[in-house]
Formats: sequence, C-alpha cells, structure tokens
Amino acid sequence: MSDKSKNSAYLAEYYDLQAKADVKTLNAQDDAKIYLSALKKQVESYYPLDHHGEHLVVLDVCTGTGRVLANLATDGVRDNIPLSNVEFIGVDKEPSMIHRALAVQQETPSMSHVGRIDWLVGEALHLISAELLETHINQVDLLLSAAGSVSLLTRPGELLRFLAQAAALLRPRSGRFYLSVRRDLLSTQSTTDPMSENATYTGLCERREFPSGLYENIVYRQLPIGSPTVEGSIKKTPYQLQVIKWTKADHEEVIEESHIESVQKIWEEPELLKCSKEAGLEFVETIHTLHETYYVLKQAG
Ligand SMILES: C[S@@+](CC[C@H](N)C(=O)[O-])C[C@H]1O[C@@H](n2cnc3c(N)ncnc32)[C@H](O)[C@@H]1O
Repeated sequence: MSDKSKNSAYLAEYYDLQAKADVKTLNAQDDAKIYLSALKKQVESYYPLDHHGEHLVVLDVCTGTGRVLANLATDGVRDNIPLSNVEFIGVDKEPSMIHRALAVQQETPSMSHVGRIDWLVGEALHLISAELLETHINQVDLLLSAAGSVSLLTRPGELLRFLAQAAALLRPRSGRFYLSVRRDLLSTQSTTDPMSENATYTGLCERREFPSGLYENIVYRQLPIGSPTVEGSIKKTPYQLQVIKWTKADHEEVIEESHIESVQKIWEEPELLKCSKEAGLEFVETIHTLHETYYVLKQAG
C-alpha cells in the first residue's frame, strides 16, 4: 500500500477486501500455487538433523494482512502437507495490518495446523535487528516478498539493504527467496519501459466500493483522482479512499477520508539481478505468471 496511507483499522480492512477482490478479478491465485509448490519442495527436503530439530521457517516480508500465509496453510492442509514442523513469520511495518493478520489467523482454521506463527511489526529494511529476526540468521527456509511489494522500496539503496538482509537470513544452500515483481512495474531493458501496462492491474485508480465485513453499515469507496504519472522509474497513482457510514435514514456520511498516493518503483531486470548479486544472493530461476515475475534466489556460495 502507499507510504502515505494512514494507519487505521478501516484502512487495514479496506486493503484486505481490495486484495481479495484483486485475487478474484486478476486470477492472482497464481501466487498461491507458486508458494505452495515452494513450500512442498522445502518440506520434502526437510531433515530434522540438518535443522537441528528446529522448525522449517517461512518468512513473509510485507505480509499485509497475512493473505499469503493464510493461503499457504489452507492449501497445505488440503494437500496433506505436514505443517506441525513449520513456523510462519509475517512482518509488516503497519500495526493495523498485523492486527488484521492476527484476526485472519483466527478466522482461518487451517492456521491451527501450523507449528508456530509469529506476527511482527517491523521494517523490511531492519529485518536483522534485535527486535525482529537477529536470532534467525541462516535459518529461514522460505522467504517471500509477495505481490510486488519490492516496488515500495523506492529510495536509493533500499533494495540493496533489503536484499542483503534476505541473504543473511536464508538457510545456506537450501533456503530460497521468492522475490515477486509486478509485471507492469518491471522493465526488462535498461530504459523505463514496463513490460505490460495491464489495465486490469491498475485497479487502484478505478472507482470501487467494498462493503465492510467487520463494521456495521460501513462501505469503503475508492475514487480515482487523476491518472498515474511516471517520472523516471517512479510511478505515482493518486486516489481517494472514503470510509462511508450508512445511516438509518439511508443517508451516507463520510466518516474518514484519505488522499492516498501509491508510489512505486519500476524495476529494471538487469538492475534487480545486479543488486541481488551484490547483496550476496545467487539467481536460481525465474517464474513468469500473467501478472508477476518471481525471481527465485538463494544465498551465494
Ligand atoms: C501490496 S501490500 C502486500 C501485502 C501482502 N504481501 C499480500 O500479498 O497480500 C504491501 C504491504 O507492505 C507493507 N510495507 C510497505 N513497505 C514496507 C516496509 N518498508 N517494511 C515493512 N512492510 C512494508 C505495507 O504496509 C503493506 O501491508
């Protein structure tokens, strides 16, 4: 989500509803299949001795409301993947997102099959800190950065910093990092030329309404305010979010209004790969789906 969005419980639910709607309209369940297959591979090669009896660790950075981990648990249980040895860790900088992720965990029965689940409020750029994951260096088996969240790291040096921490957290040899980049925010050349400006993926600037499932008579209305702009490699998409309360007399009252500017970086593939190498990561493979490209990386050496 935007770095200018406010930290509100309404915003967290709105994002959750929006992500779910996108999953339906964009067939973005593609990502669930990719992550399930990655988890299966890790579970199949899990040897308690190599892990010193520890859990197999799945870390989801920029977890939002925990969508990816909840999907993993549900699909894992459906496919009889044993999850009692698995630990899920979700990190997001917004407390409201983590709060909602906890609720999503409680609403998702399959999450009770997972050996351990931790939700942490924290910065992707400070993963290796005493408050966050200092104790998990070389212990993460599957590291996920889903839904193109890497495009939210827009400032110089941030990508390298994030990738270097990912490299340090991965389990040597077997640990894998699935770095997703949205295809409309990815250029394969060294000019800023996104691969496919896919109209369906610019959902943020369409007018849409989402009735709340948590708060009575509340509807979230997303309104376009101007077209997205691209300056250099930065794409800015302004929009307005209204939290609307319907009164008994069938009147609507706007009780919260946010002007949000989604600021995202368009990455060039050569730049991403160079930065990964510099950070101590080795390229394993690329997976392409309709809307995302996944770079699968491991610790170098
Ligand atoms: C596009 S959402 C993706 C959510 C989730 N991964 C999914 O696929 O449903 C991006 C999330 O990244 C979080 N985020 C953005 N920048 C961050 C940062 N520097 N550190 C931690 N979280 C961040 C936002 O709060 C938001 O919840």
